[in-house]
Amino acid sequence: MRAAFLGATKGMGRALARSMAERGDHLCLLGRTPSELDRSAADLEVRGEQPDVPVVACDLEKPEMFSDAIERAAEALGGLDAVIVTAGIFATQEELEADSALAERLLRVDFVNTVLFCEAAKKALLARGGGTLCAFSSVAGERGRKPVILYGAAKAGLSRYLEGLDHKHHADGLRVITVKPGFVKTSMTAGLEPPPFAGEPNDVARLVVRAIDRGTPVVYAPSIWQLIMAAIRALPRTLMRRVGF
Ligand SMILES: NC(=O)c1ccc[n+]([C@@H]2O[C@H](COP(=O)([O-])OP(=O)(O)OC[C@H]3O[C@@H](n4cnc5c(N)ncnc54)[C@H](OP(=O)(O)O)[C@@H]3O)[C@@H](O)[C@H]2O)c1
Repeated sequence: MRAAFLGATKGMGRALARSMAERGDHLCLLGRTPSELDRSAADLEVRGEQPDVPVVACDLEKPEMFSDAIERAAEALGGLDAVIVTAGIFATQEELEADSALAERLLRVDFVNTVLFCEAAKKALLARGGGTLCAFSSVAGERGRKPVILYGAAKAGLSRYLEGLDHKHHADGLRVITVKPGFVKTSMTAGLEPPPFAGEPNDVARLVVRAIDRGTPVVYAPSIWQLIMAAIRALPRTLMRRVGF
């Protein structure tokens, strides 16, 4: 598989890129930080069969870069079978309520710009007869919850967009994979108190590789979060108002 990958420098993206490289996939790394891109490319070159992992500048805060970056990745890979986006940002509800500029930035990066990146990816894949678009949303988008009102709203919008894309383009050969992680221990969650069932990036990577191979449209990772969210979705609003999560 030849995949353009935005977000492979840290956390779950790094774990997923490593798993893909180790099984022989060819990757082109997209990202905003040249030193992190070079370090990650060198790491993947040691782990996989790809002697030179190309890197392309792409900042999720700059939508004007998206189409060109994906096309440059396709050129460097000699084709394009998949686009993966794990990049995203997080801030606590308290931080976002205290700083409206930060709130605006998070909503733009995690919803508007991620959707625009997926739109560019969709066009590039459909122009080549289809392929896989795998994007990381979150269980935070499943229900309005006190600790993640704004971040959850961005991820809810992203999940709905990806669902619509799947419905519209499945018959055209586009496989849309929506990953919904629960709490996973990465740089994004460093400093937060891990809840029970907190996951590890490598476990998420294993589930996502399997979903990509099978074309599974929605993946909860770790899997236990599928049960947890089913229970939370079933809670009545009056109870949700009283509980802390
Ligand atoms: N960790 C969790 O508990 C959790 C739970 C649910 C959903 N998620 C979602 O899962 C995804 C991965 O999360 P993670 O915990 O693995 O995150 P992470 O460790 O913080 O890594 C984030 C990645 O996003 C990249 N990134 C951030 N802003 C960017 C920008 N403007 N342009 C390009 N790249 C950018 C970072 O690149 P740099 O190297 O340049 O910083 C890094 O590679 C995110 O979408 C997150 O919202 C995470």
